[in-house]
Amino acid sequence: MPLPHVLLSAAVSLDGCLDDSGPERLLLSSPADFERVDEVRARVDAILVGAGTIRADNPRLLVNSAERRAARVAAGEAEYPLKVAVSGSGELDPAARFWHTGGEKVLLTTDDGARRARALGIGADVVSLGPALDWHAALEHLHDRRGVRRLMVEGGGSVHTQLLQQELADELQLVLAPLLVGDPAAPRLFGPGAYQSGRLRLVESRRIEDVVLMRYRPTAPGTGGRVAAADRHWLGLACELAELCPPSDTAFSVGAVVVAADGSELARGHSREGGDAVVHAEEAALAKIAPDDPRLARATVYSSLEPCARRASRPAPCARLILDAGVRRVVTAWREPDTFVTGPDGSGVLAAGGADVVVLPAFEARAKAPNRHLER
Ligand SMILES: NC(=O)c1ccc[n+]([C@@H]2O[C@H](COP(=O)([O-])OP(=O)(O)OC[C@H]3O[C@@H](n4cnc5c(N)ncnc54)[C@H](OP(=O)(O)O)[C@@H]3O)[C@@H](O)[C@H]2O)c1
Repeated sequence: MPLPHVLLSAAVSLDGCLDDSGPERLLLSSPADFERVDEVRARVDAILVGAGTIRADNPRLLVNSAERRAARVAAGEAEYPLKVAVSGSGELDPAARFWHTGGEKVLLTTDDGARRARALGIGADVVSLGPALDWHAALEHLHDRRGVRRLMVEGGGSVHTQLLQQELADELQLVLAPLLVGDPAAPRLFGPGAYQSGRLRLVESRRIEDVVLMRYRPTAPGTGGRVAAADRHWLGLACELAELCPPSDTAFSVGAVVVAADGSELARGHSREGGDAVVHAEEAALAKIAPDDPRLARATVYSSLEPCARRASRPAPCARLILDAGVRRVVTAWREPDTFVTGPDGSGVLAAGGADVVVLPAFEARAKAPNRHLER
């Protein structure tokens, strides 16, 4: 199921703290960075925080700039992003500023939490997600019921930790502030537990007065049928590569990327690349990797179109090339239609060979875009 793009946003001290343990909120960002945060807020559909942050900071979480709010309204959006709170207990102060400022509010909670929040008179749409709160279900609810496509998560540490550990975060915007807290009881950004292997990808670093903004994206693919946020990034790249194909009336335009389990890109390719009129995207990418590369066994092939099961132009179809390379996970956007071959079923060939095939239909329109002329 499609989920919102999840952006984690936080500021930390040099010793990794989100706050100190005192009653007042510790200001970590600089004025210009608060302005940047306001701009980011203005570009999202919803802002989410955990109950711990509402209790500790009593935040408003508004778009403060009147110009930015006016621009949202002019674009047909709500003046303020939807505000989302997450609580298991429902034990929240109904007088907190979160409930009395900005636009619409939702409290995502449990059955028990919903009873408690309603009894307390919390001024929000109180949504119970069952006996326990599952993050996947929470994000699905926001996407399907509330139309949230871009979600900004503003803490605290417990929420950030779970979203990163469960591989539901698409992006991390981290601000490093030049001060030290030194308090062992201070909340940390990320707690202990199992995280994705490998390194995150640094996509930007920027000095903003005396703080530094760093933007990271997770890169490690999911495993088996489990979809990680990075799967969406890599499949998006495969769709971009499909746009590079020389046009053809007799073959699809497809992009492919091969990614190791630690998130490093092994190779990429696209149909008809390098002047080869019949080469397929997966074939072109795999040809760039040494056949004995040990990383292939745990790698994922991302292909904008399901790898082919039959082809006339070369002896081996791409589904077979993938299996022969030792790859056992494929993520694709679009099942191959009957345009050139009757009953193509690359996914069936891959599954019969022991590979997991994940189809992400949210990318189908992008995969089809360079092939529109073939549908006529
Ligand atoms: N520097 C920054 O950028 C920044 C930003 C935000 C916050 N902060 C700081 O972070 C601290 C708060 O962080 P925190 O980790 O204590 O709290 P938090 O992450 O804001 O909220 C934790 C609470 O959210 C609810 N929750 C989270 N995951 C849940 C799940 N899976 N199921 C049910 N409920 C769930 C629970 O509420 P219930 O207890 O109601 O069940 C839990 O106690 C504060 O000191 C604040 O100042 C700093």
